Amino acid sequence: MAKPKLLSLDAFAKTADDVKVKTTSGGVITLICLIVTLILVTNEYFDYQTVVIRPELVVDRDHAKKLDISLNVTFHHIPCELLAMDIMDITGDLQIDLLMSGFQKTRVVDGLAKETTELRVNEYKQENNKLTNSNNPYYCGSCYGALNQKDNENKPFDEKLCCNTCESVKKAYAKAGWAFYDGRNIEQCENEGYVQLVTSMVDEGCQVSGTAQINRVSGNLHFAPGSSLTSGSRHIHDLSLFEKYPDKFNFDHTVNHLSFGKTIDNQEMSTHPLDGYEAATGNKNHLYSYFLKVVATRYESMSGLKWDTNQFSATYHDRPLEGGRDSDHPNTLHASGGIPGAFFHFEISPLKIINREQYSKTRSAFALGVSASVAGVLTLGSVLDKTIWTADQILRQKKDL
Ligand SMILES: *[C@@H]1O[C@H](CO)[C@@H](O)[C@H](O)[C@H]1NC(C)=O
Repeated sequence: MAKPKLLSLDAFAKTADDVKVKTTSGGVITLICLIVTLILVTNEYFDYQTVVIRPELVVDRDHAKKLDISLNVTFHHIPCELLAMDIMDITGDLQIDLLMSGFQKTRVVDGLAKETTELRVNEYKQENNKLTNSNNPYYCGSCYGALNQKDNENKPFDEKLCCNTCESVKKAYAKAGWAFYDGRNIEQCENEGYVQLVTSMVDEGCQVSGTAQINRVSGNLHFAPGSSLTSGSRHIHDLSLFEKYPDKFNFDHTVNHLSFGKTIDNQEMSTHPLDGYEAATGNKNHLYSYFLKVVATRYESMSGLKWDTNQFSATYHDRPLEGGRDSDHPNTLHASGGIPGAFFHFEISPLKIINREQYSKTRSAFALGVSASVAGVLTLGSVLDKTIWTADQILRQKKDL
């Protein structure tokens, strides 16, 4: 019989039925093959169903956006009245005295935040301002030389430079770069009860929380004692009250929360390495620094939801202002100088991470995996079966001899 050409191509050559022999060992191997295939295919299926997060790195192209920084810090030994918080960055932008604006400060007495039971400092002052002002509608308080009030007499009442409240005297002093201390001997402050307020607060702490917007460039957010004054490129703080009590006040603190941008509920996705961090040395003239590297991050879920947030890494450092050798590491020599306070230096990474939720396998990869495991197991099985069959045959021949 002449063979047609294509027959020689048949990879699946068939054996005639009568040549087929069924053996027990063949049956066992088939069973094993089936089980193994089943296990492999099930694995393959679970792999296919698994959702993984694939990170991707791109250059961050959102250049104009601002960055939200959310902060909640408790200072254990410095009263709110003495605490100032400013944000400076390398663009030269300065946000001074944020504690007077958006941020909320809560007095901490004996380690407990007292917001509910005590009047907040600002409210206290407002109430007292009203009292002073209502006594005499044409009152124009002295600024004690901190502002130039000489021309006042020739001006209509609206344009006069006046320091009617303790706060305005304090501001005028800050502007002039004068030490303000606690307002003693300043009429407005004595009347408003500011002196008593400050004196009664010396043993308190302060909890600060709120959100500020910063430019997406390097900069720092710092807490320092006393109101700040910026003239030209110099930024200074009035340390007079801080230094008035040599044995009180320090910047020991606990970071309750620090994050950049929106926070995501998913624990795994949002990293806040500083939450709960406690920095305490008990040293008055001490500088605490955090160096934060912020990386913009986007999460894209399987269902198409997207969140933009920021992750950051933090490095902590503290040193005494007088500098000198580190008590724990004598080979480390600290720089000296600076002002006491807590500084959060931040840097913004130019790269952005995009985390995408995906199935770990595509459908075709799954199909490929299934057929590969079926085929592989069957091939191995038949090789095994043939080997056993051949060995068996040889043994039988030997016996027959
Ligand atoms: C700040 O953190 C403290 C301690 O975790 C918490 O009790 C307080 O409610 C927080 N303040 C705000 C405004 O979230």
